[in-house]
Amino acid sequence: MTVIEPSGRTGPGWWRSAVVYQVYPRSFADGNGDGVGDLRGIRERLDHLEWLGVDVLWISPVYPSPMADNGYDVSDYLDVDPAYGTLAELDALIAELHERGMKLVMDLVANHTSDEHPWFVDSSSSPESAKRDWYWWRDEPNNWGSFFSGPAWTYSEGRAAYYLHLFTRKQPDLNWENPEVRHAVYDIMRWWLDRGIDGFRMDVVNLISKDPDLPEAPVMPGQRYGNMRASVLDGPRVHEFLAEMHREVFDRYEDRDLLLVGETGETTVEEGRKYTDPARRELDMVLHYEHVEIDHGTFKWDVRPFDLGRLRERLAAWQTGLADVGWNSLYWDNHDQPRVVSRYGDDDRWRTESAKLLATVLHLQRGTPFVYQGDEIGMTNYPFASIDEFDDVEAVNYYHEAIALGVEPEDVMRSLRAMSRDNGRTPMQWDDSPNAGFTTGTPWLAVNPNHTEINVAAQRDDPDSVLSHYRRLIQLRHEDPAVVDGDFTLLTDSHPQVFAFRRRHESGQLAVLANFSGAEADLGELAEECRGDLVIGSGHGPVMAPWESRVYRR
Ligand code: NOJ
Repeated sequence: MTVIEPSGRTGPGWWRSAVVYQVYPRSFADGNGDGVGDLRGIRERLDHLEWLGVDVLWISPVYPSPMADNGYDVSDYLDVDPAYGTLAELDALIAELHERGMKLVMDLVANHTSDEHPWFVDSSSSPESAKRDWYWWRDEPNNWGSFFSGPAWTYSEGRAAYYLHLFTRKQPDLNWENPEVRHAVYDIMRWWLDRGIDGFRMDVVNLISKDPDLPEAPVMPGQRYGNMRASVLDGPRVHEFLAEMHREVFDRYEDRDLLLVGETGETTVEEGRKYTDPARRELDMVLHYEHVEIDHGTFKWDVRPFDLGRLRERLAAWQTGLADVGWNSLYWDNHDQPRVVSRYGDDDRWRTESAKLLATVLHLQRGTPFVYQGDEIGMTNYPFASIDEFDDVEAVNYYHEAIALGVEPEDVMRSLRAMSRDNGRTPMQWDDSPNAGFTTGTPWLAVNPNHTEINVAAQRDDPDSVLSHYRRLIQLRHEDPAVVDGDFTLLTDSHPQVFAFRRRHESGQLAVLANFSGAEADLGELAEECRGDLVIGSGHGPVMAPWESRVYRR
């Protein structure tokens, strides 16, 4: 096997040729046999990441946490939860990654803390607390609903007032209007950068600035609470706060190649340009949601069929919108999404083909690809049969709220099976042994029964596997400047089955053709693009096989 050299680029924009790999620590690899993934497990699997060619590792939160939202509820930003290991092990991980030429990006959850964080314990203890304005307190709640069902306000006896939480009641929102809060966050960020990490993925960072009036929100049909999005998404001071963060934190590390990624749910292309315009000095790239919401109806659980036209249109809008300014991040899956093969592909008859096609279409766009653990072997959704099998607070809360509103249990289960985040959180499938090589203990969340077939060991030496395909795509990004810097043009906005685009560069151009269907596709005029060297795929001619993808270079 050839070794895939890391991209090796340094200096401004180094991340344009990089590939990021996301680990959800709970589910990646369990090093101590307690059924929960941990830092030791990650360290034991670094060979896999290096072999794949990954440049950057992003780990979801490993900080001490009551785990109301699996670590996105942080009670201490400067330590490691014992379930995951120790700070010394994290230092070892940083050193081992750096030795292998890889970087480490940590998840920074700073829109909210845990209600067990000392800041909130203090703030909620009394109206006289020195930290009384660190969170959003009101004598009377407004009508906002939380992203995770139920009201966005909870009463605190100590304060005799209500606090705002856009997620669970155990995740109170920090008040970024207060400069003390912002500077406390910047201190944490510098502390980690001084420890040697290479950047942050900033959780829901476009929620940090709220309309300070917290106005009542419209209530959508069939809903109990107001939809607060207009008052919290990309709020009035968000760009100002991010520019300040840049000055206070990142400007001090200009000699380091850091990566600043913002999770910006439901943001627009226009806002995305602002967040990532290098001249504004806010973020390097954002994780937007538009392409992972095309199968949502009025809300996430209202599941609609896959629509190629809509997917193509939204992806192209981001490609074109950020062509001359800013930079895209490219992802299908993460710990908040069901598995893309089950969602936009075909996890039954065309599993391997559709997994490869989805990878090709993603990795060859302009932007930095993010591989979520298990993507590289084509992991699929889990066959959930009962509500008792779910762990995720979002799914469990929604189930109870929907049942209380009179939705039929089978309809609720259908939505959960399709959309639950637990689909993306089942343990990583390393081999075909009873717990997929994830743990020697009892896994905290069930392993997908299809691990006997879909696993790393089975695919590693197979040149036709999904895993080998991912490796090839990563290698292509490291080697081919057209993948990194070529411009993007959609080749058809109307073909009913085919997603096709071109990447043009002074060194040559790539044509990417993908048949998003289980039927043959006639390329028609697109057949003209079938010229040059076939660098990905094996088909030829003007008709594409079901779920076939091809890349030509000329
Ligand atoms: C986004 C994270 O990715 C998700 O897992 C979490 O539940 C919310 N932010 C709240 O922190």
